[in-house]
Amino acid sequence: MATMLALVEEGDEVIVFEPFYENYVPDAAMSGAKLVFVELRAPDFALDPEALRAAFSARTRAIIVNTPNNPSGKVFTRPELEQIAGLCQEFDCLCITDEIYEHILYDQHEHVPMATLPGMYDRTVTISGLSKTFSVTGWRLGYVLAPPVLSDAIRKVHDFLTVGAPAPLQEAAGIAMEQADAYYPELRGMYDAKRRQLYSALRDAGFECHLPQGAYYIMADFSHLGFPGDDYAFARHLIENIGVASVPGSSFYRDGKGAKLVRFTFSKSPETLAEAAARLARM
Ligand SMILES: Cc1ncc(COP(=O)(O)O)c(C=O)c1O
Repeated sequence: MATMLALVEEGDEVIVFEPFYENYVPDAAMSGAKLVFVELRAPDFALDPEALRAAFSARTRAIIVNTPNNPSGKVFTRPELEQIAGLCQEFDCLCITDEIYEHILYDQHEHVPMATLPGMYDRTVTISGLSKTFSVTGWRLGYVLAPPVLSDAIRKVHDFLTVGAPAPLQEAAGIAMEQADAYYPELRGMYDAKRRQLYSALRDAGFECHLPQGAYYIMADFSHLGFPGDDYAFARHLIENIGVASVPGSSFYRDGKGAKLVRFTFSKSPETLAEAAARLARM
């Protein structure tokens, strides 16, 4: 929010990939930006170079890249990021990244920070945080890395929005980050096991879904379950009759496209996931 309010003006266009993390829409609304969407499709959510280029215009101020992605689990590849970087330079615009799941990756997928690509440091605002990596979502502790010409304005807006993150939490974050090198592989291993556990439970229950490449969510298509209603009705049915919570898919799309999808998280204990599997099996 601070980055958008600081760097985007009324009427500027900001490109967002769909499905998207819900907050980008209110962030854009409050900064006066117009969002331009580029759809990525299951199962691999690969980037379509033509659709991407078509989204850029003389009015483009920024593109938001969330990798690894919530909700799709997509991890943008280096060639995909290079395409985005090339267009940012051609159209002289900023890249705002959301890399909060940077340490939660599976199989051979690697996280490439946009700011490390040639020519991109000066035009990239890298955003990350402690919530996911250190399982402290309640702390809401994040950070922004950007060249001074950009971070000057972001720091001012941030000061007016929140004043600052609580100092004791910042101290704890510093200690955690200093000691984390050995912890990151452990984190990945833990989530890989949970990823497979939830994926099997969903497949066994009749959902159509794919193993995510990163982050800790699975988008599941319930079309084949014979449920008559939309994603909101289905999510309510799951809570009331099955005892499992999910997020309706349309939260991550503009209009109607998520109506047969719900998003589950596997950021839960193995016991909770096992119980969820048992409940889903009763559907
Ligand atoms: C893509 C993405 N960005 C940012 C956040 C915000 O994290 P926090 O407010 O905990 O720093 C989340 C949390 O769900 C997220 O999924």
